[in-house]
Amino acid sequence: MGESLFKTKTVESKRLRILKISADGADKFEGMAFTYNVMKYTAGKALTTQEAIERYVWLSDEPYLGNYFVILKETEQTVGIAKIAEDGVNTIEIGYSLFEAFWGAGLGTELAQLLIDFSNNNLSPQVMTAYTDPRNVASQRVLEKVGFQKIAEKERRQGIMSYFYEMKVPK
Ligand SMILES: CC(C)(COP(=O)(O)OP(=O)(O)OC[C@H]1O[C@@H](n2cnc3c(N)ncnc32)[C@H](O)[C@@H]1OP(=O)(O)O)[C@@H](O)C(=O)NCCC(=O)NCCS
Repeated sequence: MGESLFKTKTVESKRLRILKISADGADKFEGMAFTYNVMKYTAGKALTTQEAIERYVWLSDEPYLGNYFVILKETEQTVGIAKIAEDGVNTIEIGYSLFEAFWGAGLGTELAQLLIDFSNNNLSPQVMTAYTDPRNVASQRVLEKVGFQKIAEKERRQGIMSYFYEMKVPK
């Protein structure tokens, strides 16, 4: 799975770049800060390096669907993880997490927009979706800023409620 598969310019935004995580990405997880605050609304606990590898190294031959490192172009630091997944017919789900040191600078919004642009250019979905924990006000705000609308509250995994967001992609 090489970077040559990425044909579009939208692998990058002004400050960020996304890079698909492949099998040989496992050794890059050492030292990444999957703290409780970063993970509380998704995994519910801080992750060790091994747990992060098991959660995010997703081996697939699909060129675009999967998990991505989020890289700050200026410093080449990995500042978070993003996800692009199928969520039904012609429907693409996005997800994102930034490490705490990088919160509050507009990067979450920039990343969500990058994931939308990248998905639209490469996968042409009719609908995009996202899910947040009801307590995750920051993520809800990010989704609203990039054009998602809250559609429903759903039980996503057993006993765990999520806010379900959707955006119809204009043709
Ligand atoms: C959600 C997350 C990506 C937001 O990243 P960020 O870079 O701090 O977000 P932005 O700077 O782009 O801010 C987006 C908006 O959210 C608001 N916001 C950010 N943190 C907030 C908070 N804790 N409470 C309320 N609003 C908040 C900002 O003020 C901004 O809104 P505004 O432009 O109207 O002022 C980041 O907090 C994160 O990675 N959290 C942990 C992982 C996670 O929860 N991921 C989402 C799972 S669904």
